[in-house]
Amino acid sequence: MVSTQTTKDRMQEFLDRTVSSRKLFERATGAIPSGSTRAPFYYAPYPLYMKKGAGPYVWDVDGNKYLDFTNNMGPLVLGHRHPRVQKAVEAQLDAFWCGGPTELEVRLAERIKEAFPVGERVLFTPSGSEATMKLIRAARAATGKDRIMLSTGAYHGSHDIVTSSPGIPKSYLSTVTRYRYNDEESFVAAFRKDKGEVGAVVMEAVLGQAGSAPPTRSFIKTVREETEKAEVPLIMDEVVTGFRVARGGISELMRMEPDGVALGKIIGGGFPVGAFLGTDRLMKEYEYTKAEFPNVGKPRLPQSGTFNAHPVSMAAGLATLELLTPDAYEHLAGLGSKASRALDAVATEYGVPHSMTGIGSIFFMHFSKEKVTNVETARGSDEKKGRMLDALLLSHGVSMPAFHSAFASLPMREAEMALFEQAVEASFADMKKLGEI
Ligand SMILES: Cc1ncc(COP(=O)(O)O)c(C=O)c1O
Repeated sequence: MVSTQTTKDRMQEFLDRTVSSRKLFERATGAIPSGSTRAPFYYAPYPLYMKKGAGPYVWDVDGNKYLDFTNNMGPLVLGHRHPRVQKAVEAQLDAFWCGGPTELEVRLAERIKEAFPVGERVLFTPSGSEATMKLIRAARAATGKDRIMLSTGAYHGSHDIVTSSPGIPKSYLSTVTRYRYNDEESFVAAFRKDKGEVGAVVMEAVLGQAGSAPPTRSFIKTVREETEKAEVPLIMDEVVTGFRVARGGISELMRMEPDGVALGKIIGGGFPVGAFLGTDRLMKEYEYTKAEFPNVGKPRLPQSGTFNAHPVSMAAGLATLELLTPDAYEHLAGLGSKASRALDAVATEYGVPHSMTGIGSIFFMHFSKEKVTNVETARGSDEKKGRMLDALLLSHGVSMPAFHSAFASLPMREAEMALFEQAVEASFADMKKLGEI
């Protein structure tokens, strides 16, 4: 009885505070399927429509302020509208929007190459999805082999060759071999069976669907050794982790050199971007053959895209990377572990079984008895409780990605972490009252 009342009160309070979002959602459903173009921001009963961001905070259209741990699912490592990035963007808007190669893309490619030494050349795309798509294409073209290996539960973007859903030809799926993330036996068995046909092993640098579970050193070592021996290109998807957990992402932290790296998010400083780089074997697929003037020759693979290397994204990305110093990474990692410890401590205090995942400034709590290392072990996570916690945190002024790992941002300080800890304590107290834990 009591819990039903409390649920209603909480829901009513949320509805009362977010009237403009509700109205916008009702309008949006007439124009956009389900009223929002991005799944991670879809909260039941409706998503919050945002209006303003500054540093670690965002404001919705009703003027409610939230501490933002979504950071647009990762790219806003400096929080919202960092003054140095804003200045770089404004200068670019005053100079040149788009319409030809710029020095900015050369400079950004050089910064990326410094961070990921394997990359002999870099190409830009407008999204991380296109980066993984074009890198896989290069590996297939270079090896002449169609089969790719992906881990179960892997997310590499929204394109057909890495997704499985209605609408995707079955023939695409028949070229994919799956292995279990962080499971050496499963990887070795699958790889040894199919390696003669495999054009690329693709690996998510942290497994997003398992709360950004990082790879173990021994798993990464096994994958690298097996692929190297068989000369099968290993592609690391560092779209989330590149320049977030370290400049050189998980590859740097684990001292591992893949053959190709896909990037996105942070390198665009909050604007649309993707990039990929790799060994000469892969990148030469996109190079024009030398030809006599005025002919330019022809690449084996076309690299077209109206908004590739968009100058505003390049300018924002360069300004962002300049601010990501070793001290910045230390601060970010401190924020992540503090937030993770806060959740861990409160869940322990309430006797709630849980498992923490994430790395550096990325963190997630599974309501699970089992230690989570991949999607198989994540299946035991109680999604309803997870979503309930996210919704309650939102009602206490903290915006978290819906049932997905959270991302800290550089401008977060003691005050923000104290706010987060209070919100976590209040949300667990609510869950107790609601009879959820
Ligand atoms: C690991 C990973 N790869 C690729 C992508 C696709 O990037 P984008 O959303 O920019 O297309 C994402 C997006 O979240 C991702 O998490």
